[in-house]
Amino acid sequence: MADPSHTIHEHDVIVIGAGGAGLRAAIEASASGVSVGLVCKSLLGKAHTVMAEGGVAAAIGNVDDRDGWQVHFADTMRGGQYLNNWVMAEIHAKEAPARVLELEAWGAVFDRTKDGRVLQRNFGGHKYPRLAHVGDSTGLEMIRTLQDHGIHQGIEVYMEHTVTTLLKDGDRVVGAFGYDRERGRFRIYKAAAVVLATGGIGRAYKITSNSWEYTGDGHALAYNAGADLVDMEFIQFHPTGMVWPPSVRGILVTEGVRGEGGRLLNNKGERFMFDDIPDLYKNQVAKDDEEGWRYVLGDKEAHRPPELLTRDHVARCIVREVKEGRGSPHGGVFLDIAWIKEKMKNAPEHIKKKLPSMYEQFKELANVDITTEPMEVGPTTHYVMGGVRVDGLTQMSTVPGLFAAGEVAAGLHGANRLGGNSLSDLLVFGKLAGEHAARWAKEHGQGHIDAEQARDAEREALAPYERDGAENPYGVQSDLQEMMQEKVGIVRNENDMAAALDAIAALKRRADGVGVEGHREYNPGWHTALDLANLLTVSEAVARSALDRRESRGGHFREDCPDKSDEFAKHNTVVRKGPDGSMQLRREAIPPLRDDLKKVIEEQK
Ligand code: FUM
Repeated sequence: MADPSHTIHEHDVIVIGAGGAGLRAAIEASASGVSVGLVCKSLLGKAHTVMAEGGVAAAIGNVDDRDGWQVHFADTMRGGQYLNNWVMAEIHAKEAPARVLELEAWGAVFDRTKDGRVLQRNFGGHKYPRLAHVGDSTGLEMIRTLQDHGIHQGIEVYMEHTVTTLLKDGDRVVGAFGYDRERGRFRIYKAAAVVLATGGIGRAYKITSNSWEYTGDGHALAYNAGADLVDMEFIQFHPTGMVWPPSVRGILVTEGVRGEGGRLLNNKGERFMFDDIPDLYKNQVAKDDEEGWRYVLGDKEAHRPPELLTRDHVARCIVREVKEGRGSPHGGVFLDIAWIKEKMKNAPEHIKKKLPSMYEQFKELANVDITTEPMEVGPTTHYVMGGVRVDGLTQMSTVPGLFAAGEVAAGLHGANRLGGNSLSDLLVFGKLAGEHAARWAKEHGQGHIDAEQARDAEREALAPYERDGAENPYGVQSDLQEMMQEKVGIVRNENDMAAALDAIAALKRRADGVGVEGHREYNPGWHTALDLANLLTVSEAVARSALDRRESRGGHFREDCPDKSDEFAKHNTVVRKGPDGSMQLRREAIPPLRDDLKKVIEEQK
């Protein structure tokens, strides 16, 4: 018997997280005739999906008809430095166009080509203009569309609810335990299948584009339920976040600015991105300014400007400029889109039309008019490539009944994600996760909820009220963020990461002593205390995996091992909770690429 003080919500499928992946999964599950509950930590519609501003990547070929799934597949694999789950990369490249056009049919208002088709823009690492976009608010428009569509499907939404624990029946996940944030009342979400779509872990770092919700909840829930986390060392530091004023540091400046011709400059006015072109991209980068600009304008013979190299590389070049004294006054570099007035009569109007949110963001927050002045920008923690290991065909994790999609799931992006591939990822794999979770639910039915597990989860959630409050949750959180930024950030080394692991162990001891005051209603201190455990788990996974990978690849750069290593090219890093509760790491060989896909990559080279 469940505890009568726990309200029970019963559905065939529970989706945790209501960003793009969660909404798309919920829509698909519901469309296949099962009952769906959608649990979100925040208000519906407030999701990190909206921070993918510049576009959704899909090889529709509206702007350049040489594009196709093969080119998108090869670009994604090269961007991910071949650590990608290639099953997922193939499905993604093939399915993305259909998912984007489906969204259009559901009402998403994409920008248009002159002949009325979906317009596509350039982005880093994509060979052809591939990003369908809505100005610089693409993620927002996607969420609006999915929300509108989903709301008519009879999905039950639990807003401002937080899940703290997954409930199991033997090996299988059969529901979740959590509470509503407003009243602090405990809930059991009973379900035959659970889909995690909780997004990322950005709040483990001090400088991030992620808002307060992104504390690695799904990663930690899956890990604690026995699932594998893969490739957690690969964190994406988006090259362009705001750096000034301090209160807005980290807020995203879309790659769309560079896609529209924005140039990165150091304090000497030099386009430093020309100084270091990686071998993998040597034959794809413009030889001079003029060629780069012709590319932006759509000249099919021209090569891309170096600002449109992959994010990992651009972020490191910015760090180098700052470190060597060529940075902007507030520790970034300059991003200039105003220069296009040299080439375009109506440049200010063009900028305001293509980048309206960036125009407003800089005007309002930094008093900078981007049509006349350069922006100051620097890297910001944006995305985690690592996450829950899933089966590429079904999105089920290694724990039966537990599925994952979107940022919380690993595989598609390998060592580095290409911009815009996050939005297509969540559409393609959100749909798959919803479909297979519904199928699983129909085949297996509800499991048994063990009341003792729920009571344990309650005791754990209430523990901060039992302590005398010597340690403040905000203090521990902020010390963790500072430490991760400094020791497990863009440039890493063995000593720092070993020190980071010691620091995490010490912070865990402090977190165990965290106390909160007051009662359970509207108590943000309590919510922060509960988030801490997740943040510490994912931080340990990042540091431990990064320490083990003795090479530099994609989003993981080690100054003590600055090159790629053939040995490390062959495996993914996997962590799992051991029987004694400690985090155990192993390297796992990447399955050999299918011959036909090998040929696709060869042809694209
Ligand atoms: O820069 C951007 O608009 C972000 C896109 C993404 O993360 O995919």
